[in-house]
Amino acid sequence: MYFPRYRARRLREKALFRDMVRETHLSVNDFIYPLFVVPGFGVKEEIPSMPTNYHLSIDRLLEEVKEVSDLGIPAVLLFGLPEKKDEVGSEGYAEDGIVQRAVRALKKSFPDLLVITDVCLCEYTSHGHCGVIENGRVHNDKSVELLAKTALSHAEAGADMVAPSDMMDGRVKAIREILDLHGFDHIPIMAYAAKYASSMYGPFREAADSAPAFGDRRSYQMDPANSREAVREVGLDIEEGADIVMVKPALSYLDVIYRVRQAYNLPLAAYNVSGEFAMVKAAAAQGWIDGERVMMEILLSIKRAGADIIITYFAKEAARLLR
Ligand code: PBG
Ligand code: ZN
Repeated sequence: MYFPRYRARRLREKALFRDMVRETHLSVNDFIYPLFVVPGFGVKEEIPSMPTNYHLSIDRLLEEVKEVSDLGIPAVLLFGLPEKKDEVGSEGYAEDGIVQRAVRALKKSFPDLLVITDVCLCEYTSHGHCGVIENGRVHNDKSVELLAKTALSHAEAGADMVAPSDMMDGRVKAIREILDLHGFDHIPIMAYAAKYASSMYGPFREAADSAPAFGDRRSYQMDPANSREAVREVGLDIEEGADIVMVKPALSYLDVIYRVRQAYNLPLAAYNVSGEFAMVKAAAAQGWIDGERVMMEILLSIKRAGADIIITYFAKEAARLLR
């Protein structure tokens, strides 16, 4: 079928036709909204490189989450900034740690909201790495032990799902085992399965105060040049017991999202990361792009590539537009 018998423009002529044949749809149900919890009381400070996103003490977190859930956003992803850091990230798995306390408060006030916790050590270690250091390198198996402990403490606090973001080998298996052993076999794991050593995490590391004090994360996060390896990584996390797998970042990795979607049938999440968010905000503030339209086009592209779930700092703004 070719021109003039086929005219692609026929179905583009009217908005109603365009709506009828649209292949991809965004919904507020797709979104997970990340939040940064800090110690103290009455704290609500906008993160400079991430406008509309805040550092929140638990009392103000509850106000923010009220807004989030009123917008129909079904889930939040919690990151914590501890009072003090140490070599082994003890605050990350402390019973009264910042995330543990935030989870308890949130579940009490918003029993119907999904509270997901990011499981990692970089916010809690004095050196800023995602695991423990031995002889100058991140020790895999010792880190896994602490990550499993962290996940368990989040589940004990009432988290609905845990999301390990560290990229140590074998951590999904260890987390699945410790959760099952303690009666949390009903708590799913969303694994940051293909997480790249990306330059797009800059604003987040400022927000989470988690930049590594020496070296970088390339010995545990993936090389941006690899996509076959991503298929392998995702496969491993699925075998180890992941319930949802994630590709991160999203925009420079739409091919990876597509490839993982073709290879596996688990729910797939994509993390539209802080740098991707900041670039849009910065250009929009200059008046160089239409921020809202670019936001919606970006979110749509992530779904079109194959993601079911989008973790995004745009969640509130996009939810408002989708209403
Ligand atoms: C911690 C973590 C990071 C992000 C999510 N969890 C940063 C990193 O790996 O350095 C990045 C999120 C973002 O940039 O929005 N492991
Ligand atoms: Zn980390």
